[in-house]
Amino acid sequence: MNGLPHRPDRERHPAPPENPPTATADTPATVVVGAGPEGIARARDLLLAGRPVAFPTETVYGLGADATDDRAVAAVFAAKARPRFNPLIAHVADAEAARAIAVFDARAEAVAEALWPGPLTLVLPRRAEAGISHLATAGLDSIAVRVPAHPVARALLAAVGRPVVAPSANRSGTVSPTTAQHVLDGLGGRIDLVLAGGRSIVGLESTVLDLTGPTARLLRPGAIGADRLAELVGPVEIAPPHDAGEGDAGADTPRPASPGRLASHYAPSVPVRLDAGAAGSREAWLGFGPEIGPARAAHALNLSETGDLEEAAANLFAMLRALDRPDVAAIAVARVPETGLGIAINDRLRRAAAPRPTPEPGREGA
Ligand code: TXA
Ligand code: MG
Repeated sequence: MNGLPHRPDRERHPAPPENPPTATADTPATVVVGAGPEGIARARDLLLAGRPVAFPTETVYGLGADATDDRAVAAVFAAKARPRFNPLIAHVADAEAARAIAVFDARAEAVAEALWPGPLTLVLPRRAEAGISHLATAGLDSIAVRVPAHPVARALLAAVGRPVVAPSANRSGTVSPTTAQHVLDGLGGRIDLVLAGGRSIVGLESTVLDLTGPTARLLRPGAIGADRLAELVGPVEIAPPHDAGEGDAGADTPRPASPGRLASHYAPSVPVRLDAGAAGSREAWLGFGPEIGPARAAHALNLSETGDLEEAAANLFAMLRALDRPDVAAIAVARVPETGLGIAINDRLRRAAAPRPTPEPGREGA
């Protein structure tokens, strides 16, 4: 099947090749360009002109916009149909650029030194004078910042020379994109340009660590685990997967929960059933580990036949998409161990399986 995931190269860069994305009839306006110097210059020009552009990072593809331009940021929320109370991550080329928009304490310095560039986002006090759009930060006094490691993202950020906000380049609530084709599938016709840079190697969104309070808080698990963070910043509190006050910007709480931590997220259109021992007759099967998937599943994939969690993370979103088919009643997923990267994988799987909210009237296009 076209676009089926493979085991990612162990070597981080260059990114493994991807089938060339194909536009469909309903994606007339979206151009996909390779990430050579010309493509990067084109993406830079669009970003500086206030237009959103999708680009690869090592975690997932992002939909970027100039973080200092309210209208550009608004265009990102509109393209994704993303609720506006959910703030965005500002991506910058290096820690120095991050310090210009956020206040670093010793803990932030230690973590940035050890783990940037990489799949880690820090939530820090926002520098009011930096001119970041209030829409991007949803009016909070904090700001989420990240220095991505992907060479294309780094080249683009260096060329733009401004912070670029970038949520995952998918419709709000759906599975994050790990290829340019995934971006096109969700946002084709809604954005001008996709910069194609192969598959995202990590495959899960960045770890989000909140350092605005006295105790570090893990808001979103990712490839960088709480244990590693604790070595650098001391005890790390694990925020419950969906605590009270989510869904609004935490106006009543001194330490707001990550407003984006809605229970249902990253969801395919068909239901997802977790910790399954076998697939039902109309279910697709998503396995993990050496046991062969049940023979009667018409569509079966394996996150990692060898039980490798890194491979499973890199394959997760692409496989959920591949099994999200009209002829399937649900996706049955084998148990993934709750250790190491399995914590982040299970977090995404639980959100994919969570009860879906009934859509709010007028949310589309908000
Ligand atoms: O890997 C990633 O982080 C990708 C790539 C493109 O960089 N981006 C991404 O963005 O996943 P997004 O918008 O899908 O997720 C950002 C998360 C949300 O859960 C949001 O609520 C949280 O970060 N966030 C952003 N600003 C925050 C803030 N000031 N305080 C707490 N949480 C914040
Ligand atoms: Mg997202």
